[in-house]
Amino acid sequence: MSPTPILIDCDPGHDDAIALLLALASPEVELLGVTSVAGNQTLDKTTANAIRVLEFAGHPDVPVAAGADRPLVREQFVAAYVHGETGLDGPDLPPPQKQPVAQHAVDFLAEKIRASERPLTLIPTGPLTNVALLLALHPDARPERIVLMGGAIAEGNVTPAAEFNIWCDPEAAARVFASDIDVTMIGLDVTHKALFTQAHIGRLTGRVGEMVTELLRFYDTFHRTVYNFDGSPIHDALAVAHVLNPDLVDTLERNVEIDTESELCRGRTVVDLWQRTDREPNAHVGVEVDSDGFLELLVERINSFE
Ligand code: BDR
Ligand code: CA
Repeated sequence: MSPTPILIDCDPGHDDAIALLLALASPEVELLGVTSVAGNQTLDKTTANAIRVLEFAGHPDVPVAAGADRPLVREQFVAAYVHGETGLDGPDLPPPQKQPVAQHAVDFLAEKIRASERPLTLIPTGPLTNVALLLALHPDARPERIVLMGGAIAEGNVTPAAEFNIWCDPEAAARVFASDIDVTMIGLDVTHKALFTQAHIGRLTGRVGEMVTELLRFYDTFHRTVYNFDGSPIHDALAVAHVLNPDLVDTLERNVEIDTESELCRGRTVVDLWQRTDREPNAHVGVEVDSDGFLELLVERINSFE
């Protein structure tokens, strides 16, 4: 079977970086390009980080386009407390050699979607600002599928009620869930159940394995301190993994609405899990994960780099 063409819209970010590596190492998909958005860090840093990761992994020719430098209406908020001042603290990655392409991420996404002969999957792993702008500015350029990391049925990680990517730009998220595109939500309900532990780290090999080890040494501290987790959820990589192998995450078709009104529950993904309303399902919501299958896949693919 020919590989599924994908585009990753991201804010690297430790787990975004590992999501990129997983995509690059996987023959099931063809990574046509990467777009960056402000989120875990400012846009200049997330853009540079995307290029640094691609170059370090030996794929400098995958184009990177820089996108939105702030949410649609909210103030910008960065997660230096999770990802550090660079957005990718830990390894000593060289500065980027290449520049992003001379096209805004939103126009780049539209061009790639229009030009693709095969149905294309968009994998957003940061705030959904670029994706909402794509829907507004290029209504004819619709990916066949959006598999996003974000949200949660019943927990939050930036507030008690909300997950970071959705909380950052709830107005953008609301537009994506209302788009009528085939949307899959890979949220904390599944990502928090699949922790990459010291035992997994101990099995990583090669220079990419060493780089991931350094990323996780930094990233683990947050998860140990805040959640007492014995390892880290590699949130964004699970969205990529679900595209590689749908069996890794079980989903239910449910209605998801985004709270853009209240301050207390800003960015909450209100999932009608028990179908208590007559609102039509608009998303496939991740509810169970084959954590061993996912973590083994990650180790195998990271170790496959030269
Ligand atoms: C999400 O927020 C970011 O910190 C991570 O990169 C991930 O995309 C998890 O809530
Ligand atoms: Ca991310």
